[in-house]
Amino acid sequence: MEPTDLSARVFQNAVGALELYTMYLGERLGYYRALADGGPLTPAELASRTGTAERYAREWLEHHAAAGLLDMAEPGRYLLPEEHIPVLADSSSLLFATSMSVELVRAARRLGDVVDAFRTGGAPPPMTWEPEGRWPSNKPVFMNLLGQQWLPAIPDVHKRLSTSARVADIACGLGWSSIAMALAYPEITVHGLDLDAQAIESAARSADESGVSDRVRFSAADAATGLDGPYDLVAIIEALHDMSHPVAVLAAARKSLADGGFVLVIDERTDPEPTMPASQREQYLYGWSVISCLPDAMDAPDSAATGTVMRPETVRRYAAEAGFATIEMLPVGADKWSFYLLSD
Ligand SMILES: C[S@@+](CC[C@H](N)C(=O)[O-])C[C@H]1O[C@@H](n2cnc3c(N)ncnc32)[C@H](O)[C@@H]1O
Repeated sequence: MEPTDLSARVFQNAVGALELYTMYLGERLGYYRALADGGPLTPAELASRTGTAERYAREWLEHHAAAGLLDMAEPGRYLLPEEHIPVLADSSSLLFATSMSVELVRAARRLGDVVDAFRTGGAPPPMTWEPEGRWPSNKPVFMNLLGQQWLPAIPDVHKRLSTSARVADIACGLGWSSIAMALAYPEITVHGLDLDAQAIESAARSADESGVSDRVRFSAADAATGLDGPYDLVAIIEALHDMSHPVAVLAAARKSLADGGFVLVIDERTDPEPTMPASQREQYLYGWSVISCLPDAMDAPDSAATGTVMRPETVRRYAAEAGFATIEMLPVGADKWSFYLLSD
C-alpha cells in the first residue's frame, strides 16, 4: 500500500473511531431513544428530556448531523431518520449496532492491562462489566433466528427438540439462547451454565420474565465439571473459542450426552483458510482476538489459546481430541456464524 493511501486509511479509521465514541455517548445518555420517541428535537429539548447539559447536547447533535447520522427537520431541530432507528435506537432489532460502541469503549479501558499481558504471557484481570452492564449482544439473533431458522434447519436436532428433550446451553452468558430455545420448543427443558455468576443471576430473572422458568434452570459453573445430563442436545454458542480448555469442555459435553445425542457448536464464521489481506469480517475477528478474546483465554498456563479466528480445522481437531467420531459442518445459511454438529 502506498504511504499516502495508508495515511488516508488511518485518518478514515480515526473518523470512524470518533464516531463510535459519540455513539457510545448517545447510547449511554439515552439520546437515540429520546430522538426516536420524541424527535425532531432542538438541543434544549434533547437536553431536558435526557437530563443532560444543553451545550453538550448541541455539540453531539451537530457532530451526528455532520456525520450523516441525523437529518435537520428545520434549522436547529434534529431528526433521527426512520431508517436509522433499527440500527441506533432499537435494541431488539437484528440491525442494532450501537452495542458495538459500548463493547469497544469497554475493551479500550482495559488496554493498559493487555499491554502488560503481552509482556508476561498471562491474562489481564477479568473484564469488569460496569458501569455499562453486560450487554446481551446476541439477544436479537437468538430471539429472532435461533429457534425460528437455525435449529429448524438442522433436521436431526429439530426432530429431537420437538419432543420432551433435555438441552444444555454451555457458556450461556445472559441466558437468552436458553430462553429462546425454550420458547421455540415448548416441550424441552434447558440447563444453562456459565462461569459468570452475575450473568447467571440475570439469566434466571430473564427466564422468569419470559415465562419459561419452569423449564429453564441456570447454574454458575465451569462447563468442564458442571454438566449433569443426560442431554439430548448440548449447545455451545459463541464460546468455544473463548475457552481456555475447549477440549476438556467438549469431552465433558460428550460424556453428558444421552444415546444418540448431539453437541452443536455455533461460533464465529471464519474463512476456511487464511488470506492476506483477509476479508473485513476476518479483520474484525482478529481485532477482537488481539484485544479481548485471546487475552481472556490466557488465564491458565496450559490454555489452548485459540483466539477468535477459530477455523473449521481447529474445531475438527478439538472435537476429535474430545473423542467425537462424527464432525459435520452444517449448511445453515447464517453469514456471520459457522455450525458444527458433533456426535458418536
Ligand atoms: C462471548 S460469551 C458468549 C455468551 C453467550 N453464549 C452468547 O452468545 O451471548 C462467552 C462466554 O463463555 C463463558 N465461558 C468461558 N469458558 C467457560 C467454561 N469453561 N464454562 C462455562 N462458561 C464459560 C464466559 O463466561 C462467557 O460468558
